[in-house]
Amino acid sequence: MDTLKVGIVGAGGIAAQHGIAWNTNAPRGEIVAVADISEPRAHAFADRFTGGKAKTYDGIESLLEDPAVGAVDICLPHHLHTPAILAAAKAGKAILCEKPLCTSLEDAATLDAALKASGARFVMAHNQLFQPSLVEARRLLAAGALGRPYFYRSVEAFQNRGALAATPSTLPPGESPWAWRNDPARMGGGEVLDTGWHATYRMLALANDRPVEVQAMTERFFLPDVAAEDTGVLLVRFASGAIGELVSSWAFAAVGNRHFEVMGEHGSLAGGGAELLHQLHAWPDPVARPFAPVHSFTAEVTHFLDVVQNDAPSLAPFETGARVLQLTLAAYRSVAEKRTMILPENPLEAGHPAA
Ligand SMILES: NC(=O)c1ccc[n+]([C@@H]2O[C@H](COP(=O)([O-])OP(=O)(O)OC[C@H]3O[C@@H](n4cnc5c(N)ncnc54)[C@H](O)[C@@H]3O)[C@@H](O)[C@H]2O)c1
Repeated sequence: MDTLKVGIVGAGGIAAQHGIAWNTNAPRGEIVAVADISEPRAHAFADRFTGGKAKTYDGIESLLEDPAVGAVDICLPHHLHTPAILAAAKAGKAILCEKPLCTSLEDAATLDAALKASGARFVMAHNQLFQPSLVEARRLLAAGALGRPYFYRSVEAFQNRGALAATPSTLPPGESPWAWRNDPARMGGGEVLDTGWHATYRMLALANDRPVEVQAMTERFFLPDVAAEDTGVLLVRFASGAIGELVSSWAFAAVGNRHFEVMGEHGSLAGGGAELLHQLHAWPDPVARPFAPVHSFTAEVTHFLDVVQNDAPSLAPFETGARVLQLTLAAYRSVAEKRTMILPENPLEAGHPAA
């Protein structure tokens, strides 16, 4: 099998996890290029992850001209996802893109058309899908272990002390990741669009169902200087009638870092990074199944390679990204208007107030 040669676009904070992930997947994948507007960051990344072998570029346009590059891994600030995906699709490269997909449904429609026209492979970087407790919970749910699911909770929450600090010392000189995150035009939202994105796609993966309504509340509890919310709570109704509660925060963490719960007809499941608990209604105590930790970014790149090299169906296709964006933007409108929003079947159509 040919090695998939990738160009990393954006060599900031999260790119380091992608660097580990690509190297762990060698020789199926190889980092051959890296682009960053900050030359020191591009060089630092190339040195750390490729021993200085990868070519460095100042932007995606010049990287895409490199004939060695067969795929791009987009790790840019949110407002740059749309132009980067469009450029990569036009160049016919396979695309792995960090969350969020983009920051507006208008952009999502433009991307949808461009990706369909180019036929470029596209996978959202939804690393948390590969947490073993979630994989096993989805297997049990699909096998009907809980009967009809009634309620889902998905939590992505931690106290973000890094946001209080200046540019992290791990980064070479350049703009702090909090500069663009504090600029609504570049961030596109607040914590719910950023970290809450994980909680949202996790809930959609558990429910395997279409969300039809959302109500939301947001608050800024812990980070007085961020431009938008640091915490969001969303109530979601699914087509089946099941209800979801989504909690995401940069202000607090959940006990034991539990990521999800599912309550159903026959019992309940609860999972986090290290274990899955399973309790049917008559059982006095839950049964715990432990899991060895996985590096979810490595699993995400393995999946991307499976899609590109083996034609595997994508677990994180464009449609999921569009659905998460539709739900998130409708949640923001629910907050602004203090109303329940109805979510159209087409994920590219915006939610609207209930009549
Ligand atoms: N999956 C996760 O758990 C996770 C965690 C953190 C961030 N992310 C996502 O990763 C993306 C990047 O976030 P981050 O925290 O790494 O941000 P960051 O600010 O640390 O890194 C962004 C990098 O992009 C570079 N850049 C900016 N403009 C550029 C341009 N025009 N051309 C080339 N490079 C440019 C910056 O110099 C910087 O090095 C975001 O989409 C974010 O939501 C995902």
